[in-house]
Amino acid sequence: MPEGTKPKHPKIPLEELAAEVAQCRKCPLAEGRTHTVFGVGNPHARVLFVGEAPGKNEDLQGEPFVGAAGKYLNELLAIAGLRREDIYIANVLKCRPPGNRDPRPEEIAICTPYLREQTRTIDPEFIVTLGNFSTKFILKTERGITRLHGELLHAGRFKVFPVFHPAAALYDVRKREALENDFFTLGELLKGQRE
Ligand code: URA
Repeated sequence: MPEGTKPKHPKIPLEELAAEVAQCRKCPLAEGRTHTVFGVGNPHARVLFVGEAPGKNEDLQGEPFVGAAGKYLNELLAIAGLRREDIYIANVLKCRPPGNRDPRPEEIAICTPYLREQTRTIDPEFIVTLGNFSTKFILKTERGITRLHGELLHAGRFKVFPVFHPAAALYDVRKREALENDFFTLGELLKGQRE
């Protein structure tokens, strides 16, 4: 290895990471959970979607985006020419915050090493950040999603495309329009028809 090159640890297989997450008791969210929600999808996906945290349905089923926001996400994926089986979906937090409150900074700090490893293992070309929490975490920015959505950005070797959270857009027509436009743009980016 050339001098000055940081040694990298090997990629951790997703099954191994999922087993570790299932046992995790590093923060108090472990006490209230039914299931951890590690993530699902194609382990070799070109596009990784990152949401915020499991809601009630996700906690009960142990899978991300299975509730109302998940149904809407499926429609959005179709706009971009994607199917659930093409992509990987994970969240910033692997356990449900009580009453779906916002993730706390200390929970994000404790939980995100799992997301970081998951991202290294999947090694996607694109990361689509759904909403403020994942956008701020992935881009290490304080700029909000309202300003950033629909712009192709970069974090290290990853192309990052922030969009509104589908749950936030469900009851807000303006966000819904923006989100659907952004998924159309995502489809074009994936087809290489836009820079
Ligand atoms: N909202 C999220 O951010 N993630 C889920 O898994 C479900 C709803």
